[in-house]
Amino acid sequence: KNKKRVFSGVQPTGQMHIGNYVGALSLWVENQKKYDNIFCIVDLHALTIPESIEPQYLRKKVKQVAALYLACGIEPEQSTIFVQSHVPQHSELTWLLNCVTPIGWLERMTQFKSKSKKLESVGTGLFDYPVLMASDILLYKTDLVPVGEDQKQHIEITRDIAQRFNHLYGEVLKVPEELIRKSGARIMSFDDPEAKMSKSTGENKKRHAIGLLDSPETIRETIMSATTDSNRETRFDYASPGILNMLTLYQVLTGQSRAEIESHFSDGKYGKLKKELVEVVIETLKPIQKKYNRIINEETYLDDVLKEGEEKATEIAVDTMDNVKKSMGL
Ligand code: ADP
Ligand code: NA
Repeated sequence: KNKKRVFSGVQPTGQMHIGNYVGALSLWVENQKKYDNIFCIVDLHALTIPESIEPQYLRKKVKQVAALYLACGIEPEQSTIFVQSHVPQHSELTWLLNCVTPIGWLERMTQFKSKSKKLESVGTGLFDYPVLMASDILLYKTDLVPVGEDQKQHIEITRDIAQRFNHLYGEVLKVPEELIRKSGARIMSFDDPEAKMSKSTGENKKRHAIGLLDSPETIRETIMSATTDSNRETRFDYASPGILNMLTLYQVLTGQSRAEIESHFSDGKYGKLKKELVEVVIETLKPIQKKYNRIINEETYLDDVLKEGEEKATEIAVDTMDNVKKSMGL
């Protein structure tokens, strides 16, 4: 089998939302059979802005994300699922790549700029986040990285780091490519359609996001109160950001064409769009929630899946580290 290798991950922070599902997880599941997949729960990344210093908190979040991977349709028979910190080679490669990464490249990262602005004290780890992410990807000789739009710049720097390493030490690292949805790669929040839906905001602000575990009542309240406008415009090319966001969600979740959707909502009544989107989201999340509840109550099953994933991931990671170290004279 000569399948291309896919690597991607989610941080165990906040509440996983419909944006994570549309932009990342649903794409992983759609392509699962086509590729050789590695899906990681990136707990080391979660430490860059810790939500709590309670060890139990992070442990619980890691389990939640792992269970959501499975609930969304990632199958352990098809894909390797593991926790980043269980494979120490991620941290080890990060140090080596730090030594070939100019700090100017990191200073340009927009995510660092926006995240650090909100903090009183900025950890070195937040600044170095892109190098850890490059290590995650490069460790597995990855061909494709399916992510949302917000990660585009991080994939570009990963390519730059790999190319610089190869230039200095020989052709050791595979240079990966991004896999980004044409539509749905950047789901906006319901309360402020200028802002990306994000996990940490979603946990603290009502009506910002739809969590994958939200109840039908919460989903209904969030969508029905979403920010709209007075234009009555339901065509993709002309809609305001809030309406475009709902049309896009509707499109990705139903699989219908833009033309079909535009003609269905051609009367320009936003109430109809909202009501039907509520139903589509509830129907999408119902089986996911059912499966999640089953998995999360079966502690050993999840541990077994993650243990097996760790073993498979380690095998590849060790091989890459051998080549990297040899090429650097270590
Ligand atoms: P968040 O930014 O919400 O904290 P992560 O950084 O853990 O989430 O990202 C997990 C995956 O979900 C990444 O592939 C990311 O690009 C994708 N993603 C995050 N937010 C969105 C969004 N609003 N729309 C589409 N994809 C998203
Ligand atoms: Na993100």
